[in-house]
Amino acid sequence: MLALRSSFNLLALLALACSLLPSPVSAAYADPGACSGECWTHDPAVVKRSDGTYFRFATGGGVYVYSAASLAGPWTYDGEALPSGSLISLSGNDDLWAPMVLLVGSTYYMYYAVSTFGTQSSAIGYATSTTLEVGSWTDHGSTGVASSSSKAYNAIDPSVYLAADGNYYMTFGSFWDDIYQVQMKNPPTAPAGSSSYNIAYNASTDHAEEASFVYLRGTTGYYYLFFSAGACCGYDTDKPAAGDEYSIRVCRSLSIAGPYVDENGVDCTESGGTTVLASHDYVYGPGGQGIFVDATYGGAVLYYHYADTNIGLADSEYQFGWNALSWSTGWPVPY
Ligand SMILES: *[C@@H]1O[C@H](CO)[C@@H](O)[C@H](O)[C@H]1NC(C)=O
Repeated sequence: MLALRSSFNLLALLALACSLLPSPVSAAYADPGACSGECWTHDPAVVKRSDGTYFRFATGGGVYVYSAASLAGPWTYDGEALPSGSLISLSGNDDLWAPMVLLVGSTYYMYYAVSTFGTQSSAIGYATSTTLEVGSWTDHGSTGVASSSSKAYNAIDPSVYLAADGNYYMTFGSFWDDIYQVQMKNPPTAPAGSSSYNIAYNASTDHAEEASFVYLRGTTGYYYLFFSAGACCGYDTDKPAAGDEYSIRVCRSLSIAGPYVDENGVDCTESGGTTVLASHDYVYGPGGQGIFVDATYGGAVLYYHYADTNIGLADSEYQFGWNALSWSTGWPVPY
């Protein structure tokens, strides 16, 4: 009996030792860059103004605005971009989602979504400012990119990008048939007239793909389509099965309109999407990401939100994460 018991103890010890070793998956990902000050965020958008000030925008209210002299902070909270909410007359117009900010000429365009959780009653609006500061934003209401239950998509999570052909494209969507794209007018205030098309779709289970963001790596001619796969929210009350929480995925294409394929050549419209960043160590559910270019960090910087398991899993506890990217394999690797 004694011998038996001690061999059980040995097994228990071995199991404990193994669980303390980093798993091969977690060892693959870099920790987020430093953040101090006000680091809460959700679906962040980051822009660097020409004077070197960083602005960070987040989901909620009339879009929360933060600023800092460095990406690492200290970040201060400045207020809401649109304190009276959006002109779009849909419910959710006082709780704006997933902002994205783009400089067009000398004017900043902020795109945002009005929606309510789990519905297709959604529209993408925009506001403009020349300084990014709280108090300087003018809302213009809907871009005309909108959805209802008759559409194949959900018009949320906008990002707008200037392609090499000189045209602007809006990429958007969430669940249903996932990620769509539409060519925009110049300046990008409304669709140019041609219809939208699907560029990413996961046929499995609940089609959980959203938060798309296109980035052209000019030296290669490849457009990289980043998106978040999995469940975004409510991790404290409704924790998804392991691996079903947000992770950041990518596909690439030589045309902004696709077809986008992943590292294995699988089309993004056929459930493709190479993992860029997933839960690891204290980082849980990274997503809601975007890219901005900053010479201070050697080029493209990936920014995102994540739940820090040392802080808590609630949406109200999400933290700002960022990493510079290495491209030596032809695919983005955070470091
Ligand atoms: C597609 O959905 C399945 C099932 O939820 C998931 O395991 C997989 O990671 C998803 N892939 C992408 C690229 O969204």
